Amino acid sequence: MAVRIDGKAVSARVKADVKKEIEQLKSRGIEAGLAVVIVGDNPASRVYVNNKKKACSEVGITSYEYALPQDTTEEELLSLVEKLNNDSRVNGILVQLPLPEQIDEHAVINTIVPEKDVDAFHPENVGHIMIGDYKFLPCTPAGVMELIAETGIDPCGKSCVVIGRSNIVGKPMAMLLLHKNGTVTVCHSRTKDLKEICANADILVSAVGKANFVTADMVKQGAVVIDVGMNRNEEGKLCGDVCYDECEKKAGYITPVPGGVGPMTIAMLMKNTLTAVKAANGITD
Ligand code: GUN
Repeated sequence: MAVRIDGKAVSARVKADVKKEIEQLKSRGIEAGLAVVIVGDNPASRVYVNNKKKACSEVGITSYEYALPQDTTEEELLSLVEKLNNDSRVNGILVQLPLPEQIDEHAVINTIVPEKDVDAFHPENVGHIMIGDYKFLPCTPAGVMELIAETGIDPCGKSCVVIGRSNIVGKPMAMLLLHKNGTVTVCHSRTKDLKEICANADILVSAVGKANFVTADMVKQGAVVIDVGMNRNEEGKLCGDVCYDECEKKAGYITPVPGGVGPMTIAMLMKNTLTAVKAANGITD
């Protein structure tokens, strides 16, 4: 039976560390601010944004919410981003994705100044992640790395399989595992022999977005299984990509949904916002 990795507990530790540093900055007269922009009324985005604002208030970061209507034009959103780029109260800018179809996501991401890009989505920050000299963590993959570290298992030399190749999760996830000297395979919808590849993984990270995608026959005995999926099952209940009940019998370690990767993504966002505040104030430690 697998050990359950408690993302809530690990994220609480990360947030407590951030909170301590934010308090120290406050005692020096330095305030931290995060702008959170949401466009339209996607219910999942609303939940994520509320959770991000709640985390800000827990660690002492002031959040500034900008809720724009579904029919917002690209020009309007870009002009808000430019305003936030120039607002000294704002250390980090987060534009919740996905955006309505009339808005080009890349145009928005490219407009955020890299110093305030706490999601690490700007091509300049993505480049830093690729090279390995990054300051802003890719939030979800960095959260996953913390959860893997929690198991005590070192990815060095291990077979690491990432299912999914998105810019937000799959690609940066592969980079972080590679930086830790894992032997990384990225699988996707065109991958042949997906089951066999996964069944050889010492560390399996699923970021597919389909409930019940990872079954026990895809899990190696004793493997670390990390579930990045956030889906709803037929009953509307939140669930990941992994068939938890059958996979926990085979895995060595496994993350639940909810309570696994989700809280870690937000904790890492808080960490990035702290990094942005320190950089804006010339604090290098
Ligand atoms: N949508 C899904 N995940 C994320 C994320 O990490 N950041 C933003 N901005 N939007 C998202």
